[in-house]
Amino acid sequence: VSLKDYNTFGIDVTARYFISVSKPEEVKKVLDLKGYPELFLLGGGSNMLLTQDLERLVVHLNLKGISVQEKGNDKVWITAMAGENWHDFTQWALAQDYGGIENLSLIPGNIGTAPIQNIGAYGVELKDVFVSCTVMDRATGEIRTLTKSDCQFGYRDSLFKKEAKDQYIILSVCLELTQKNHRKHTTYGAISAALRARNIDNPSIQDVAEAVIGIRRQKLPDPKEIGNSGSFFKNPILSKTEFEQFSKQHTAAPFYALDDGNYKIPAGWLIEASGLKGFTKGKAGVHKNQALVLVNYGGATGNDIWEMAQYVQHTVIEKFGIKLVPEVNIIP
Ligand code: EPU
Repeated sequence: VSLKDYNTFGIDVTARYFISVSKPEEVKKVLDLKGYPELFLLGGGSNMLLTQDLERLVVHLNLKGISVQEKGNDKVWITAMAGENWHDFTQWALAQDYGGIENLSLIPGNIGTAPIQNIGAYGVELKDVFVSCTVMDRATGEIRTLTKSDCQFGYRDSLFKKEAKDQYIILSVCLELTQKNHRKHTTYGAISAALRARNIDNPSIQDVAEAVIGIRRQKLPDPKEIGNSGSFFKNPILSKTEFEQFSKQHTAAPFYALDDGNYKIPAGWLIEASGLKGFTKGKAGVHKNQALVLVNYGGATGNDIWEMAQYVQHTVIEKFGIKLVPEVNIIP
């Protein structure tokens, strides 16, 4: 089976074994299969770079369904199955006037993978609305509920990338959204500017979503047109001492001061300041509007993209002494 349509980079590798599952019982059955190679779990395929044909058993997690539970008169708990598309879900929530995830509009991927890297954009992270998720233990098939604190969320980070890496299959996610008295997050520069440009003082959650969608469409390539995985690297975090050194030499660099005293530097800025924005080699490139995004102009191999990524890493280290770490999972 070609995986080209199952990864947003649009890399054409094949899977030797492929199975799509749509119910928790089917997931359990797959875990019990004997005589197949190691499982490879595939959700929305939006955070991976496939560099080889897969000899593993690819399990496409296609569980669907959304349920709503009222919580008092201004909140709801929404449970969505792992295979629901994230962006479609945000748009469904907006149509019901449920608030909390409008800033996360247009993020590629599925509900079930959102907790793994604690997706975030424009001042909101999944953890801000997260209640719990149900997971199946890959070793035992047992289903458990993990709470927000169990999940140990951090910047593009969670339990599922740390000690529980490869331990669980996320089956569903429960989020707390608002029905009334929505709290809007509009302080992020580009959002407040977009709202001001439209003379909106008191935005609805739909206005915020529209602003986010507008900004993302302007800056980020649509994976349906140009293969990509969003931000390829994480924004690097510097200690106070490292930051003081850095900012003395690079006074123009933007930064965010973090609550823990460290500083986050936009990797996109570092890449652009290294002269690589819009750089291309063959079918692989650094996007022209957002240097943090690597792109497949059609027909690039995973290795072409990976070589580009290493070239970017190398160039940024030479110029700034800062090591960029991929946010995308490189397979294998
Ligand atoms: N910048 C440049 N050149 C570029 C790109 C960015 O100079 O080519 C500068 C911008 O001028 C701005 C700063 O970098 O001052 C921040 O840029 P932006 O607001 O576009 O955000 P980001 O730090 O590049 C992060 C997330 C995005 C998320 C946005 C908005 C990470 C790794 N990425 O990007 O997430 O949408 O903030 O909140 O944290 C993703 O993870 O796939 C993703 C798109």
